[in-house]
Amino acid sequence: MSKVTVVGAGKYGSTTVQRIAEADIVDEVVMTDIVEGLPQGLALDMNQSRPVVGHRTKVVGTNDYADTAGSDVVVITAGLPRKPGMSRMDLLEVNAGIVKQVTEAIVEHSPDAVIIVVTNPLDQMTTLAAEVSGFPRQRVMGQAGILDSSRFAHFISETTGADIQTVKAVTLGSHGATMVPVPSQCRVGDKPLSEVLDAETIDDLVDRTRKGGAEIVGLLKTGSAYYAPSAAAAAMAQAVVEDSGLEMPVCAWVDGEYGISGVYLGVMGRLGADGVSAVVEVDLTESESAALHEAAVAVKEKVEDLRQIEL
Ligand code: LAC
Repeated sequence: MSKVTVVGAGKYGSTTVQRIAEADIVDEVVMTDIVEGLPQGLALDMNQSRPVVGHRTKVVGTNDYADTAGSDVVVITAGLPRKPGMSRMDLLEVNAGIVKQVTEAIVEHSPDAVIIVVTNPLDQMTTLAAEVSGFPRQRVMGQAGILDSSRFAHFISETTGADIQTVKAVTLGSHGATMVPVPSQCRVGDKPLSEVLDAETIDDLVDRTRKGGAEIVGLLKTGSAYYAPSAAAAAMAQAVVEDSGLEMPVCAWVDGEYGISGVYLGVMGRLGADGVSAVVEVDLTESESAALHEAAVAVKEKVEDLRQIEL
């Protein structure tokens, strides 16, 4: 039996559950949360949608980690979302405590799972989950690159008028200030982005992408984005469940690639049943490469902040 658990029944968690269930790729999706009744109610509602949507995957809502036992993949969404004006760093302390507890419970019940972290601040929370779990680094990864790339693609499509399905966008680096959109890897149809947009416009789109999450937080006023984030998390879970070998931008353990070592960083990774089976190096321009190195330094510094917290 194939099974995915999503920890956290907020908007991000519950829409991730819905997307995985509707993809009909696993037998069961377990949604767990500390709030009593919330995951149960959402699960019941989603299960009742199955005759209309036409999928078989069952959703189990629970407050008990025992129900998550034997999961192939666990997506950690638990934690507080950002409020307007709040940086991902402000969240560090409170979410570190939550992610540590959740990871310990996952390890106890699903010792062979692949863990996908989406809780912010993403790079530190992924590092923390990896350390607390004691899992091989390839079995713990973070979601950010697919989301950021998808946002970048949307902005490119809006600006050029090109069909969204013909736009390929890539972002690497961290999920935050040192995000590294990679225009040299972007395509609109069969053309490189630089042939379609001038450098100044590309820079503007890059800047908007970097602040993509904050733009939505500012509009919503309460809570942060979840439709595109959950689409990204579900795509990663699907790649693992299906052992697809698909390459996608993910926050993965980098150990020598690009001349960078010992840090969780947004890179292209090949995803399969064992997690990130390989970090795939893509060609970068000199400035993109410099930005990726800067991002690695920034993430390492932020991981040091994590060390200051009493967990
Ligand atoms: C965002 C959050 C989910 O970027 O990190 O919207």
